[in-house]
Amino acid sequence: MTPFLAALAGKAASHPPIWLMRQAGRYLPEYREIRAKARDFLHFCYSPEMAIEATLQPIRRFRFDASIIFSDILVIPDALGQSVRFAEGEGPRLEALETPDDFRRLSGQLDLELLAPVYEAIRGVRASLPSDVTLIGFCGAPWTLATYMVGGRGTPDQAPARNFAYRYPEAFAALIDRLVASCITHLIEQVKAGAEVLQIFDSWAGNLPELELRRWSEAPIARIIAGVKAVYPQVPIIAFPRGIAGGFARFVNETGCDAISLDTACALSEVARSLPDSVVTQGNLDPLVLINGGDALHRAVDHILQSTAGRPHVFNLGHGILPQTPIAHVEAMLRQVRG
Ligand code: CP3
Repeated sequence: MTPFLAALAGKAASHPPIWLMRQAGRYLPEYREIRAKARDFLHFCYSPEMAIEATLQPIRRFRFDASIIFSDILVIPDALGQSVRFAEGEGPRLEALETPDDFRRLSGQLDLELLAPVYEAIRGVRASLPSDVTLIGFCGAPWTLATYMVGGRGTPDQAPARNFAYRYPEAFAALIDRLVASCITHLIEQVKAGAEVLQIFDSWAGNLPELELRRWSEAPIARIIAGVKAVYPQVPIIAFPRGIAGGFARFVNETGCDAISLDTACALSEVARSLPDSVVTQGNLDPLVLINGGDALHRAVDHILQSTAGRPHVFNLGHGILPQTPIAHVEAMLRQVRG
């Protein structure tokens, strides 16, 4: 069993396994080099050769314990017929779904032919990964996907999707249902292709009030996990409900996730104490402290190691690594974590 799978099976280790969200990305010169050759970002994601190379780059350089397939959460709306573009330097752009009528533009089922290159890339990565490195597949949670689909872009407070859900709850529920089914299909296809662990990113869960959090984040994620586990009961599933503050214990109970990825703003030592030892934790290091390095980084890493000592924990950031991150700081963090 790899160190990462052992942690996910609940075994505490002398030092935690480590990987970083967005570990393939613009902070790596070798990534910027291949990225410059791609026509656009989605084309990059759908080119198995390039996606395989981007996935393997951070493993070659840092020997992380886990590798995450290079892709994006927005391939799901793209494969439902709501075409996605990444404007250079601006982030994602979709044709916004403003009223329930606009849902007629979406197809009922995922276009698996469009997604075939993602699964091909997973097969290619698994074939070239060292045997002690675990391969993670992923999807965006229905709520986070819906914030982009309804808003047409990233929004600071997810107001378009929150307004839509209050105003048209039945139509919104139908959209969420379609996304639940799509996520289950996409995750199962990734496991078939060689993914050994799955992560569900609910990056925008934090702006939902309690009732909406249950309905649009927890319940759909619970259905996705049950749907995947019905086919692959042994595949560990990590959930990342970013920003839900006090709600982690409940979230774990309600969704049945095997591990919970903790954001930067949560009080790690208290959250860790509030969760049973059987719940695996991940994350929490501030991406900004990794940019700044030095003593602040050393103290932050030490705090995480101390707060999670004796429990199964996966070392990671509280959100994705940022493009400005110096490689020397990643190396310093790795030396400290690995002792
Ligand atoms: O972690 C990894 O290395 C795997 C690949 C991965 C990417 N995106 C590659 C990417 C993963 C797991 C994601 C998840 C993702 N994508 C999320 C959830 C996690 C989070 O960060 O909250 C979200 C919300 C998205 C949507 C998305 N994709 C946005 C908002 C952007 C633009 C912002 C930016 O950083 O430019 C992307 C683009 C994107 N996805 C890039 C990468 C490496 C940068 C694009 C580029 O290289 O030009």
